Amino acid sequence: MCVEHEHKVAETYLDSGLPRVRVSCTVNGESVSRWIDPTMSLLHFLRHELNLLGTKEGCGEGECGACTIILGGKAVNSCLVLAQEAAGSRILTVEGLGQGGRLSVLQEEFIKEDALQCGFCTPGMLMSARALLDRNPEPEEEDIKEAIAGNLCRCTGYYPIIKAIRTASEREREASQR
Ligand code: FES
Ligand code: FES
Repeated sequence: MCVEHEHKVAETYLDSGLPRVRVSCTVNGESVSRWIDPTMSLLHFLRHELNLLGTKEGCGEGECGACTIILGGKAVNSCLVLAQEAAGSRILTVEGLGQGGRLSVLQEEFIKEDALQCGFCTPGMLMSARALLDRNPEPEEEDIKEAIAGNLCRCTGYYPIIKAIRTASEREREASQR
């Protein structure tokens, strides 16, 4: 399913008898293109083909949210999406949140609020939070809870995470009014 059509969509290709599809898309602002196994998940495409290891693999079944990325403006579990479905799309991963070697406001607030311990859930939490603030810059606590409902954290507890997202939303709104 192509969200955008700037790039060529996937097409079949036989290489030594093995089916391959070409996936061309934009990841963190950079155009990428690879021939891959048609059954490869978007999660494995990011981690194994592009070496973007920030996106984590937890359950692999759409239950934990560790693999959350933003695809075409929406937070999705990348373990449940075929890489070829992302052909032509814009993808944002945790590596693309900061700018010019600086952490994003969301990342800074997660650190300030001690909103992580082991950090395994954190990339997915950040991406769900980013998608929320992009569509709703002034979220209520209930909105935040709903946005991260699919992201499981086993060690931090949700209160500091919710506080970090709320403070980040305030800082982003202040910055946009300057
Ligand atoms: S690894 Fe994708 S939801 Fe758990
Ligand atoms: S910080 Fe460890 S699972 Fe969330």
